[in-house]
Amino acid sequence: MSKNFDVVVIGGGPGGYIAAIRAAQLGFNTACIDEWKNEKGGPAPGGTCTNVGCIPSKALLQSSEHFEHASHGFAEHGIEVKGLGLNLEKMLGRKNTVVKQNNDGILYLFKKNKVTFFHGRGSFVKGDANGYEIKVAGAAEETITAKHVIVATGSNARALPGAEFDEKLILSNTGALAISEVPKKLGVIGAGVIGLEMGSVWRRLGAEVTVLEALPTFLGAVDEQIAKEAHKLLTKQGLAVNLGVKIGAIKTGKNSVSVEYTDAKGEAHTGEFDKLIISIGRTPNTIGLNAEGVGLKLDERGFIAVDGDCKTNLPNVWAVGDVVRGPMLAHKAEEEGVAVAERIAGQHGHVNFNTIPWVIYTSPEIAWVGKTEQQLKAEGVQYKAGTFPFLANGRARALGDTSGMVKFLADAKTDEILGVHIVGPMASELISEAVVAMEFRASSEDIARICHAHPSLSEATKEAALAVDKRALNF
Ligand code: FAD
Ligand code: NAI
Repeated sequence: MSKNFDVVVIGGGPGGYIAAIRAAQLGFNTACIDEWKNEKGGPAPGGTCTNVGCIPSKALLQSSEHFEHASHGFAEHGIEVKGLGLNLEKMLGRKNTVVKQNNDGILYLFKKNKVTFFHGRGSFVKGDANGYEIKVAGAAEETITAKHVIVATGSNARALPGAEFDEKLILSNTGALAISEVPKKLGVIGAGVIGLEMGSVWRRLGAEVTVLEALPTFLGAVDEQIAKEAHKLLTKQGLAVNLGVKIGAIKTGKNSVSVEYTDAKGEAHTGEFDKLIISIGRTPNTIGLNAEGVGLKLDERGFIAVDGDCKTNLPNVWAVGDVVRGPMLAHKAEEEGVAVAERIAGQHGHVNFNTIPWVIYTSPEIAWVGKTEQQLKAEGVQYKAGTFPFLANGRARALGDTSGMVKFLADAKTDEILGVHIVGPMASELISEAVVAMEFRASSEDIARICHAHPSLSEATKEAALAVDKRALNF
């Protein structure tokens, strides 16, 4: 097996494995090193996203939504379910199968694209503009060389000081995806993306969920009108979201966790929970890379410091994904991975940070791209807004899911679309149209003039675009 590569990628998450495949497509002799182990100790490439992130969370969100529909939703369709039961072991087993299919898929893609895969930890030994020596510590230890190195080592859950993760009572995303019995009372610290998605999963399966959030506003980064609607809908489902809390002491007992906190009014409380998920953000993972040994610069927050092209301070060393600045999203990591491989090949890879979509996979889903109304106000941009509720959409009525709306924000003078915000059914799919439109710098009128299939949820997108010009047809 070759030990000398044109490109070595450290980390096989969405940033790393996609960078490796693109580099190989471009004709480089490429290797990817990833240390993630499955329960048998074998390789499990795909990183956080595949193993304990995007994929397993969406598998459980789907399963738990089916359960909720069967428990509460089917009756209105005239479907009577008797003797409904929950086999959590099977549900978790299905999630594990979905994860494994994705791990195996990546190993297959490596073979197909002739990417050499190393299972183990990669760390810098030494190097300069002429090349780098990388140690791979796996079942055996070996050293390989690379002309270019792409670091894609991802991120880890941030712990709350004084409440380290034990994955039994105090859970990170890893434990939150593998609770073997539905907790009666589940505490969640942090009403961010993980808190809301995992809180939704366990609430649907029967847990009483209390979410404790430090900030006084719900989903502060989301368009305010959409966040308010989402807050109302999620609260109505039974997710108790407490804003403006201050967390105090967290103590674990034999089978429970107590959390002392003060609420927004300053009143003291103690929450008693069977399990506690802590989802207060993630920290970049540079452990074991020997970054300091080769002089790879980190920024003040511990991320690998990169320029706009993902170049680090070291010649021919690049970094992508969660370990560098920018949103911690799988598709952002992938786009950076592709762009870096293309830059190494002398091409002009590009990532447009203005058109990276965000999706929160609650029910209804929340999705957006571009600027929020509060951002436009703060920036003094003159804009027009148009909204359309799913309540007035025929397909949403037929589905039995009429919550939420689509909202367009367009430049007051040029009508260029500046942001699109959705809370509602299949928002994750609907947002793609807005991303495409914004990439092509479309106006709201462009969307309003495009023929959309009837009946479809996407008609709500067209109607919201029409509403920018105050001429929605169905509302
Ligand atoms: P990672 O996926 O973290 O991969 C890094 C890999 O590098 C890991 O396999 C790690 O083991 C390996 N590694 C680290 N150091 C070394 C080393 N020295 N040697 C060898 N290997 C090493 N994003 C979305 O876009 N959509 C979602 O729906 C979504 N859901 C999420 C749900 C949860 C619960 C969580 C936690 C995250 C979710 N994310 C989602 C975020 C997404 O998972 C990350 O943004 C994405 O995984 C980042 O990709 P990455 O390649 O940068 O890093
Ligand atoms: P987050 O940044 O989304 O949310 C963290 C929340 O915790 C914030 O609301 C913050 O104000 C709050 N918080 C911080 N410190 C606190 C404290 N001491 N007490 C109470 N609240 C506190 O982080 P999260 O949910 O951990 O997710 C990490 C990242 O993973 C996300 O930002 C996202 O990039 C990615 N992710 C993406 C998903 C998706 O795309 N659907 C799904 C899940 C995660």
